[in-house]
Amino acid sequence: MLFTPLKIKNLNLRNRAVMSPMCTYSAAGDGVATSWHLVHYATRAAGGVGAIIVEATAVEPRGRISKYDLGLWDDGQIEKLKEITETVKSLGAAIGVQLNHAGRKSFVPEPVAPSPIPYHSGSKPRELSEAEIQDIINAFRVAALRAKAAGFDFVEIHAAHGYLINQFLSPLTNARTDRYGGNEINRVRLLSETISSVREVWPEEKALSVRVSAEEHVKGGLKPEDIGRIMSNFKDQVDIINVSSGAVVRTEINAYPGYQLGYAAAVRKLSGIPVIAGGLIAEANMARMALESGACDLVYFGRELLRNPYFVANEAHKANIAIYQKQYRRAYE
Ligand SMILES: Cc1cc2nc3c(=O)[nH]c(=O)nc-3n(C[C@H](O)[C@H](O)[C@H](O)COP(=O)(O)O)c2cc1C
Repeated sequence: MLFTPLKIKNLNLRNRAVMSPMCTYSAAGDGVATSWHLVHYATRAAGGVGAIIVEATAVEPRGRISKYDLGLWDDGQIEKLKEITETVKSLGAAIGVQLNHAGRKSFVPEPVAPSPIPYHSGSKPRELSEAEIQDIINAFRVAALRAKAAGFDFVEIHAAHGYLINQFLSPLTNARTDRYGGNEINRVRLLSETISSVREVWPEEKALSVRVSAEEHVKGGLKPEDIGRIMSNFKDQVDIINVSSGAVVRTEINAYPGYQLGYAAAVRKLSGIPVIAGGLIAEANMARMALESGACDLVYFGRELLRNPYFVANEAHKANIAIYQKQYRRAYE
């Protein structure tokens, strides 16, 4: 099943393998992609993945995790990304970009957050005003417009791993008493308004993904049932949920191959939206199990694809399925 196609909105995926978004911290300090990014993503497309999600890309300079993150806050960042999307598409993969604001997890001297609760020791975030929240929602919208101009097939809103939207969602990091904090409806408001705002400019026929931390691995944190219930409200706007977990607060987790599949299955069932699942999956058989068991619709591969860009082509070859660039035929016949 890993090697079967899937259609979601405009995405005609040649198989179910997705390259997980992974920061490479390789922009030159101005958020502009480089030739390194082009080679990095094009190689994984040549290696056979169905879709690529480009690493966390900041919607404003203050929303970067590091100084070397990619950005989409300026028109000058479009051109190089366009070269990357055109190349990746010519190699048969779909390509999306993960839009992010790091909030209290940004390196900047004065990070912003829902509440002044530190993540990094020695750096106290400043609480955002409601007007500033509106500016950030607008930054996501304008970044999506630039993503469209850069030729991305889909965008993914990063609402996982303890970055800004996740900081609002989680009761562990949101102590606000206004419309953006307190009960679940209020904690979800930033995500909800961001989705609506991006949807206003992101074409109806194009897929929209949201990445979530479905399990926060600590007492009082969000659980898969919470995330599944929350996401069920966005059935008309969101086409894919990319299920991850953790990184909201520091904690030890017992991670093993497939440890997040149960979270994905719960989110998929409760939301009724197709999901991407993964985490420590580095074998086609395990991916097949995840798909056939109904836990997910797509499987993401992260570190395995850093080690082995031709992972999908090579695993397909073992199953007598041809997924390779025609120039490499003699290696696979
Ligand atoms: C170097 C590195 C960078 C990452 N950067 C991001 C990121 O930008 N956005 C994101 O949602 N997850 C990020 N992740 C998490 C991965 O997308 C993925 O969920 C995680 O590595 C688990 O999958 P794996 O076991 O197949 O690697 C990163 C992981 C690694 C190893």
